[in-house]
Amino acid sequence: MDFFLDTAEVEVIKDLNETGLIDGITTNPSLVAKSGQNFFTVLENISKIIDGPISAEVTATDTAGMIEEGLKLSKISKNIVVKLPLTIDGLKACVALSKKKVATNVTLCFSASQALIAAKSGATYISPFIGRLDDIGENGLDFIQDIKSIYDNYKSLNTKILVASVRTLEHVAKSAIIGADTITLPPKVFMEMYEHELTKKGLDAFLKDWAETKQSIL
Ligand code: G3P
Repeated sequence: MDFFLDTAEVEVIKDLNETGLIDGITTNPSLVAKSGQNFFTVLENISKIIDGPISAEVTATDTAGMIEEGLKLSKISKNIVVKLPLTIDGLKACVALSKKKVATNVTLCFSASQALIAAKSGATYISPFIGRLDDIGENGLDFIQDIKSIYDNYKSLNTKILVASVRTLEHVAKSAIIGADTITLPPKVFMEMYEHELTKKGLDAFLKDWAETKQSIL
């Protein structure tokens, strides 16, 4: 499973990339606004740190505008993935950009039929927002399973599932059990993956017992 970070904070990306586990980055207009930085500067700086896919979202709402913005964004770096909203205009732009071999990430996906039509449109990635579905009383993880089943049914659909709007470790683990290709993690959730209360407790006990032996490995 590929791990992307869901953030536009360049310093955070630089820091967490030291783990050696970051395969890509996703951004969106809200995350760019939160960073307080210039969009293009953010993308250029991220591309200096990360070799893998970097999603950059268009803000036009018409097909022609999205294609124009997408082509401009794709020129920033070879690893830019153009993020398009799941609207009819967005999917028309997806078809056009796919024909031009521009990688795409179709975002704001909330239903299995939307995921199917995005895949038919040639999306490189589909971003189902599972946390926001949980927020309205639906089950985001069941939604991931539905998309996985649909995509597995048709060899011609090559779209990768990029689990988004991730809030919990259960989201991460169950998405991996289902077999989602990629997950985009808020930095906080990524760091939580390393932790378990019993790991900390167990290590404290080992180190206390070791100290009593008065031995040293080096
Ligand atoms: O990048 C899109 C997605 O991950 C947003 O998540 O937490 O705003 O629902 P959230």
